[in-house]
Amino acid sequence: MQVVVKNLNYTYSKNSKSVAVKALKGINLTIEEGEFFGIIGETGSGKSTFIQHLNGLIKTTKEDCECLKIGEFDLTEKKCNYKKLRSKVGMVFQYPEYQLFAETVEADVMFGLKNCKPEMTEEEKSSAVKKALELVGLNYYEIKDKSPFELSGGQKRRVAIAGVLVLEPEVLILDEPAAGLDPKGKRELLKLLKEIHGKTVKTTVIVSHDMNLIMEECDKVALFHKGNVAKVDAPENIFKDKELVSLCGLKFPLTASLYHALKEKGVSLKTNLKVENFIKAVTEYYKGEQR
Ligand SMILES: Nc1ncnc2c1ncn2[C@@H]1O[C@H](COP(=O)(O)OP(=O)(O)O)[C@@H](O)[C@H]1O
Ligand SMILES: [Mg+2]
Repeated sequence: MQVVVKNLNYTYSKNSKSVAVKALKGINLTIEEGEFFGIIGETGSGKSTFIQHLNGLIKTTKEDCECLKIGEFDLTEKKCNYKKLRSKVGMVFQYPEYQLFAETVEADVMFGLKNCKPEMTEEEKSSAVKKALELVGLNYYEIKDKSPFELSGGQKRRVAIAGVLVLEPEVLILDEPAAGLDPKGKRELLKLLKEIHGKTVKTTVIVSHDMNLIMEECDKVALFHKGNVAKVDAPENIFKDKELVSLCGLKFPLTASLYHALKEKGVSLKTNLKVENFIKAVTEYYKGEQR
């Protein structure tokens, strides 16, 4: 399912007495099916508000938006079938483990199925839960009867993600999925998300502050700035644009910092900024210097 967004606006507290906040000011972007798509931007730039539109948690209207289409779903239409949409577009919130509530892991992961796919038998549901837990790297038999609250932080997060994957969404959206995890946990979770991408999930949209991760893993990136999209491009084209990234208040991935530092010293490398390629280019350059 392709995601097409044209001129999307959103204002918090538009019709209430409190102060109105214009959070989205004409967002335009397209996410192609199959992409591992990154969203970056300073805190308050509108990332979370934007992604909440993609599964109808925040609803839009024709007045606020020229076009918001995900596959066959037109989200500017009042009659949009949100229930069906939400079974195809899965959303993992920030710190999703805070929303675990059931007595057992199995019951928690099954919760979404009960709502969205009541026609399934108990057996089918259990088998779907098993599949979802295995997708996130957990052993179903070991974990299914445990209380979610006795798990480690990383395990809780995986269970919460399994609760979304159990519906087999085609589009998976994650708001800072690695926030709060230690560096090892972050790497493992990312590896997992990349593995899941291309299995049942066709398109992944990930909001992240981790620029190394964005540089390394994403096919394309949207850079948000004050409720606008400043640029949508391949990650290296974003991070090679030193002025823009600095203007938008963001840090650089390590390879991009080195790339810019070398450039200032008159060394212009012809490479993309993925670690492996970057190291190759630097090595080649210094070999050439020593000849
Ligand atoms: N529930 C809310 N009520 C009022 N203003 C909000 C609410 N949520 C977010 N905002 C404001 O909307 C803007 C965009 O916020 P948000 O989408 O959360 O940004 P980000 O996810 O990039 O940090 C900010 O100015 C923020 O303060
Ligand atoms: Mg946010």
